[in-house]
Amino acid sequence: MVLEIQNLTVTVRGQEGKSIVKDLDLKIEKEKIVALVGGSGSGKSTTGLSILRLVSPALRIQSRKIIFLKKNLLDCSEEEMCRLRGKEMSMIFQEPLEAFNPVFRIGYQIEEVLLYHTDLKPRDRRERVEDLLKMVGVDDPKRIAQSYPHQLSGGLRQRAMIAQAIAAHPQLIIADEPTSNLDVTLQAHMIELFQRLRRELKMAMLLITHDLGMVGHLADEVAVMSAGEIVERGKTADILGSPQHPYTRQLMDAIKV
Ligand SMILES: Nc1ncnc2c1ncn2[C@@H]1O[C@H](COP(=O)(O)OP(=O)(O)O)[C@@H](O)[C@H]1O
Ligand SMILES: [Mg+2]
Repeated sequence: MVLEIQNLTVTVRGQEGKSIVKDLDLKIEKEKIVALVGGSGSGKSTTGLSILRLVSPALRIQSRKIIFLKKNLLDCSEEEMCRLRGKEMSMIFQEPLEAFNPVFRIGYQIEEVLLYHTDLKPRDRRERVEDLLKMVGVDDPKRIAQSYPHQLSGGLRQRAMIAQAIAAHPQLIIADEPTSNLDVTLQAHMIELFQRLRRELKMAMLLITHDLGMVGHLADEVAVMSAGEIVERGKTADILGSPQHPYTRQLMDAIKV
């Protein structure tokens, strides 16, 4: 088991009666992809951010356990969390411009992860940055590494962010709507890329998405979230093929294209 969340509840400080995430249980086994789907505002991002303990200070995580690789993250110091983030687990966001610092070159920002989490020598780090960019399907890694975030197209930025997320070879990736800002062709490329990464790197993934195509192609299991709670879960084929909960059916109808 890579991740096991038990009774995760997240509340807004000062309004403890109202939960954004309510009593949520979730397990992700080694090398498995679990999709978390649900309408906007249902608490998906908050769930993902809670795992990395990156929720806004306005929110409070109340949970017994978030076990990641046998360690209870809720007992970890901030220092321990910093060592884990980027190294053992990392996050891919919807908007890569928010993930990158605008004033540093892409290559440097990927290299920083290696600097912080590995013992690689500077030359090996730079080589590894190029390898990583190649791995995510970038044709001219040298030029991309030299570019600033704003100089790249949305698709390239997305790939660069994925390269950064996988740089230290984490055990778990949390991807929060990784394709919703991309056009349809690029979405298809991303599905291929994630399939390849899972095969080659054997990572587990929590895939937060509206994209049922992506869910169908990638996820082993699906959890459906509504108003902070998981209302239905199961194997992908079962959930997509015969959703049981009325909310899941509604959601399928709403996001079917
Ligand atoms: N920092 C915050 N303070 C108050 N409410 C918040 C905060 N962050 C999120 N929320 C609320 O929590 C709910 C769930 O948000 P979120 O996890 O972003 O949903 P999703 O990712 O499913 O769209 C929303 O109603 C949102 O307004
Ligand atoms: Mg969200």
